Amino acid sequence: MVSRVIPVDPFDLIIFGSTGDLALRKILPALFRRFCAGQWPKDVQIIGAARAAYDRGAFHEIVAESLRKHAPYQCNDAKMLASFLQRVDYVPLDAQSDEGWAQLAAKLTTDRVRAFYFSVGPRLFGPLAERIHAHSLATEQTRIVVEKPFGHDLESARSLNATLAAHFNEGQIYRIDHYLGKETVQNLMAVRFGNMLFEPLWNSQYVDHIQITVAESVGIDGREEYYDRAGAMRDMMQNHLMQLLCLIAMEPPAKFDPDAVRDEKLKVIRALDPVEPHHIVRGQFEGDGPGYREVVGNPRSKTESYVALKAHLSNWRWAGTPFYLRTGKRLVARSSVINVMFKDAPHSIFGADAGRHANVLSIRLQPNEGITLKVTIKEPGQGGMRLVDVPLDMSFAEALGPENQDPPDAYERLVMDVIRGNQTLFMRGDEVEAAWAWTDPIIAGWQARGDVPKPYDSGSTGPGDAELLMKRDGRRWQGINP
Ligand code: BG6
Repeated sequence: MVSRVIPVDPFDLIIFGSTGDLALRKILPALFRRFCAGQWPKDVQIIGAARAAYDRGAFHEIVAESLRKHAPYQCNDAKMLASFLQRVDYVPLDAQSDEGWAQLAAKLTTDRVRAFYFSVGPRLFGPLAERIHAHSLATEQTRIVVEKPFGHDLESARSLNATLAAHFNEGQIYRIDHYLGKETVQNLMAVRFGNMLFEPLWNSQYVDHIQITVAESVGIDGREEYYDRAGAMRDMMQNHLMQLLCLIAMEPPAKFDPDAVRDEKLKVIRALDPVEPHHIVRGQFEGDGPGYREVVGNPRSKTESYVALKAHLSNWRWAGTPFYLRTGKRLVARSSVINVMFKDAPHSIFGADAGRHANVLSIRLQPNEGITLKVTIKEPGQGGMRLVDVPLDMSFAEALGPENQDPPDAYERLVMDVIRGNQTLFMRGDEVEAAWAWTDPIIAGWQARGDVPKPYDSGSTGPGDAELLMKRDGRRWQGINP
C-alpha cells in the first residue's frame, strides 16, 4: 500500500528561529521529506529568519548539514538536496526591533498562503505578531504556527492567547502538539470511529479502566533549564497525555472537521474531576549515572521527571471507569501504549478452576506501532476446560507493507496541514486553557504541601508508589516493553 501524496498549492513559509534546534532537527527535515515526496511545487519559498548574520550560502550549509543528519536517506540524492536548497532563503532579522523586516517584506509573494512559524520562545510571540502587523505582512491567507510550551499555567496561556488574538483570528492560529501529528495517534480515531466492533463496548459498562503510558528512556540532557521549571506534569501530562486521553474518551464527532473534533475533545477536558492528592505519584530518577538533581545542577530540585495519576471523568460514558496515566524520563524503555482493560465476564460457566480472564486492547503508539487484542481461549489438550489468554496481534508495518515501516514524522503531516489550512490536528485556544485549568490546582497543591518527588532508579519502571496507586484499587500496570 503506497501512501498517497496530495500536492499543495505554492506557499511562502517563514521560519522565525530558523537556526534553532527545532527548525533544524524537525521543521526543515520534514519540509525536505515532503519535497522529495513531490508534495509541494517548485515555486515554494522557505525563508529562514533569525538574529544570526548569515547570508544565504552560510544558512544553506547549516541546513544541508542538518538534513544529512535528520533525513539521510533523502540526502543520498544530491540533486534533490540542491533543488530543495534553491527554494530556501535567509534573512537576518530581529523580533524586537525593525531590523531586517523590510528585507523580509521584499521577498514575500502576494496571493498565496503565507505561514509564519514561530519556532522561538513564547516571550517573542507578542513582538513577532506586532511586527508582522506593523510591517503589513499579514494577508487574508496568513497563518501563524506556535509550539508548545503554550504557557506555564492558565494565566500565562490566557495572556498568550490574548496577545495572538490581538493580531490574528483563531482560524489563523495553529498551536502544535506534535503527538497529534503522529500517524498512530491519528489512528486512534480511525480505530474508534471506523470500526463497529469497539464503539458499543467503549464505556464504563464494559471497560474496567484505561491505562495510558508514555515512557521514555531518554533523560533531559540539553534542556535542563527549561525542564527543571516545567517537570513531567507541564512538559508531557498537560499536553501529550491529555490529548491521548481526549482521543480515547471523546464522543464521536459528527464529522472529521476541526471544530467538530475539538469541541468533543474540549468536553472531555472539562469533564475531568480535580485529581485527589493521594491519586498522584511524582518521581525523580537517580542512580546509573548522574541523578536528576545532578543533571539539572540543582541539589534541592523538587521537579518531577515522572508522574502517574488516576483521573476520573464525570460524564455518562465514563463515570466509574478510572483513567491511569503515567509518563517519565529515564525509564526502562521507550514505549507509548494505551491499554483498554475490559471487565471480567459477568459469570464463568467453566467454574472457578478455569480462571477468570479479561480482554485487553493494547494500542501501541511507538515503537512497534500496532494493536493487540488479548482474547481468552481453551488451553489445548486433555484434562478438562482450562482457559488461557492469547494475543490477536497486528503490527501496522506487517499489515500495511514494508513502505509503511517508517511512518512519516509528525511534523511532515502538521506543516502540510498548516499549508492546506486544516486545523483538525491543532489545539484550539480554549482547549489549551481548559487543560491548564485542570493542571494548575495539581501543581499548586504540590507547592503548598512542599511535596518532594519519590526517587526511582534510572532504567526502572518508575517509583514503587506508582505500583501502589494501582494495587490499592486491585489493579496493576501492564509492563513497559520496548
Ligand atoms: C516533547 C517533550 O514535547 O515531547 C519532551 O518536551 C519529550 O520532553 C518529547 O521527550 C517526546 O516526544 P516523542 O515524539 O519522542 O515521543
